Amino acid sequence: MRLDVVTIFPEYLDPLRHALLGKAIEQGILTVGVHDLRGWATDVHKSVDDSPYGGGPGMVMKPEVWGPALDDVAAGTTEGQVLESSLPHLDKPRHDDVEGVTARAYDAGEDSDLPLLIVPTPAGKPFTQADAQAWSNEEHIVFACGRYEGIDQRVVDDAAQRYRVREVSIGDYVLIGGEVAVLVIAEAIVRLIPGVLGNRRSHEEDSFSDGLLEGPSYTKPRVWRGLEVPPVLFSGNHALVDRWRRDQALLRTQAVRPELLNHVALTPQDQAVLDSGR
Ligand code: ADE
Repeated sequence: MRLDVVTIFPEYLDPLRHALLGKAIEQGILTVGVHDLRGWATDVHKSVDDSPYGGGPGMVMKPEVWGPALDDVAAGTTEGQVLESSLPHLDKPRHDDVEGVTARAYDAGEDSDLPLLIVPTPAGKPFTQADAQAWSNEEHIVFACGRYEGIDQRVVDDAAQRYRVREVSIGDYVLIGGEVAVLVIAEAIVRLIPGVLGNRRSHEEDSFSDGLLEGPSYTKPRVWRGLEVPPVLFSGNHALVDRWRRDQALLRTQAVRPELLNHVALTPQDQAVLDSGR
């Protein structure tokens, strides 16, 4: 998979070189190019924004700068600064490596002859785990980071000729710009590429993958500061442990995000657990 990020703050994207994403870069299954938007600015001041038509506060990012930037990145005629992994760990097994899970990029889906353009904006559609799953199959994703009051809408409209365009929000709050949203979205996508997160099971059990929030997890020691690990986890009875985990997930979801339960297929046993938790 190749990710390209167009931004006026290239250094903001440095975290993409670390941890699991750094490992994916080392393994050759991920390439990240970061592009400074000002490289496409044409005036002496390298300006990328201007005052909004119709008045109002803030500045809007200019179409004459964004248009050529997105054209060049789509065409692959500009490499940008290609990020190198921060940590060489190819020859060391990681704690989450599991035998038999080979790192590989997904095959491109059928309709992916155009790259995907993701434009993070608080006015976008909410980004979900299902999007992350679908987009982990992409070959080429380009992120356009807007700042200030956003990007001239014609940039997004015009980009649809060269890209499949998605305007997405990572939550109901306003960030200064799209860079941090790109970190969030890129991490959610890349960790789902087979072999990037060594243990395939661990993302099958993620919060949201079955529509429920994940319940609590425990490790050694058995008793810590007087608090005990739930005894069922030592029972060695996998069916019992799985049932307990599902119960915990149901109860946590009911307490914290009850609206999610409307989209989950509940068995009579699930329903009984929920009733007992009310
Ligand atoms: N840019 C500013 N705020 C944002 C948000 N909540 N989601 C995505 N991009 C953004």
